[in-house]
Amino acid sequence: MNNDRRDAKDRALDEARTDSEGPLTTETGVRVDDTDNSLTAGGRGPTLLEDFHAREKITHFDHERIPERVVHARGAAAYGSFRPYEGLSDLTAAHFLSGPDVVTPVFVRFSTVAGSRGSADTVRDVRGFAVKFYTEQGNYDLVGNNMPVFFIQDGIKFPDFVHAVKPEPHNEIPQAQSAHDTLWDFAGLQPETTHMMMWLMSDRAVPRSYRTMQGFGVHTFRFVNAQGRGTFVKFHWKPLLGTHSLVWDEAQRIQGKDPDFNRRDLWDSIERGQFPEWELGVQLVPEEDEHAFDFDLLDATKIIPEEEVPVRPVGRLTLNRNPDNFFAETEQVAFHTANVVPGIDFTNDPLLQARNFSYLDTQLLRLGGPNFQHIPVNRPVAPVDHNQRDGFSQHRVHRGRTAYYPNSVGGGCPALADEGVYRHYTEKVEGHKVRERAESFKDHYSQATLFYNSLASWEREHLVAAFRFELGKCEDVGVRRRMVANLVNVDAGLARAVAEGVGVEPPEEGSARNHGRSSPALSQARTTFGSV
Ligand code: HEM
Repeated sequence: MNNDRRDAKDRALDEARTDSEGPLTTETGVRVDDTDNSLTAGGRGPTLLEDFHAREKITHFDHERIPERVVHARGAAAYGSFRPYEGLSDLTAAHFLSGPDVVTPVFVRFSTVAGSRGSADTVRDVRGFAVKFYTEQGNYDLVGNNMPVFFIQDGIKFPDFVHAVKPEPHNEIPQAQSAHDTLWDFAGLQPETTHMMMWLMSDRAVPRSYRTMQGFGVHTFRFVNAQGRGTFVKFHWKPLLGTHSLVWDEAQRIQGKDPDFNRRDLWDSIERGQFPEWELGVQLVPEEDEHAFDFDLLDATKIIPEEEVPVRPVGRLTLNRNPDNFFAETEQVAFHTANVVPGIDFTNDPLLQARNFSYLDTQLLRLGGPNFQHIPVNRPVAPVDHNQRDGFSQHRVHRGRTAYYPNSVGGGCPALADEGVYRHYTEKVEGHKVRERAESFKDHYSQATLFYNSLASWEREHLVAAFRFELGKCEDVGVRRRMVANLVNVDAGLARAVAEGVGVEPPEEGSARNHGRSSPALSQARTTFGSV
């Protein structure tokens, strides 16, 4: 390892790194001289239960697999660092954004969403872009995707959505493809998916490389500065190599020839010393402008158009080190939207709020209990001290008599901190308990139209071809019809072109529900988010 690339996280990992130097032993350190022959009663007799080496070897093997992630099961990851271009202390108390002298180690995992752990890389799908910053104030996870919007507005729909996306339960077909009745059935019945379905049918869904993929935090988050002032923020990652996609025909051929295409490309480029880089950008909205838009900032199916709020570049991410062990690091890493540091807070986006529950919950199962933060890749470089004790696979040996607060007996319990602490933004919240989303969440088509209008003619051709290919695979004509009826509200020409390709009657002229977004600054513009 090049010493220039050693950082605090890399040094901390030394403790866990294991190089095989022999001789062979059992897990308890007893030397072994034969691992080919079980202990038997005579050369042809039964195997003896007392053969502790054979039992341990086979038992451990039997337990090697853990559940794969319920979504984003297939991924590839690398370590690197993040350095801000300038200090952002006027906006946020986050130390890792306080100035160019602060270099923060990171671990970044890219993934597909729908396929299982062994599926192919170049499928039509959203890609995950999850960044763990090992900051001096604790771990901060920015768990984003390569598309700036999401399929649903409220996390309560996520289990339904994922059940529709995953292979059908009776025969587990189709694996990792967008071409099936259940996904299109869900999309047609939930019009809020329309904007994201446009992105999914665009070339963005078949990235050429993880190195040439944008990333987005998707939700509106909140920066909070040391004085407690909040600013809404959307996060963007822009690849320095530019944004490039495959075309669908290439993507399909590569699936057969090299299912590891994106994963291999990431690994090889880092081994060659061609380190992938992204620029972090932020879109900032003052608290007082919360309601200044014709969409809701809390709605994850919407972007903030860049011509309304430009993206300000604030720092650079470089990936420069491959993991030592796929399972230990890439598989066991646990990202969580609720892993925040002082200076970064949530908003009331109902999708984000559900995520803040879901990740920890699933990791308790996937990683076997409450101590998965002890796994080397997950450990912060910031010091950890608390009164949480015991549980499966406890790796710490806590000393002292007590583990509670308040405490006058003493004996090893940490005192409360008085500086550098996390303080939640003091947002005023009031309202009736309701199961009804505000009106401001109800325009599902304007930004889908905006996206379509932003595409070049060849990008539109690809998009229409993708709709025809994927929707055309639906056996249920009712599902195809409903989806085409949805597309009428995006663009009548698009709906007609898709209808022709999927064998349903074209929609009647004027059948669109008017969703009325007509800001001249937004319409027709070929915005940067649309370019590949
Ligand atoms: C995993 C992104 C919405 C539940 C992931 C991962 C990413 C991601 C990147 C993979 C993390 C990794 O590499 O380990 C997103 C984005 C969303 C979104 C950008 C919307 C803006 C949701 C919602 C839920 C959810 C609404 C649930 C209510 C999960 C779960 C995992 C996951 C359970 C597996 C985590 C694990 O096993 O460690 N998501 N997700 N996601 N996501 Fe999401």
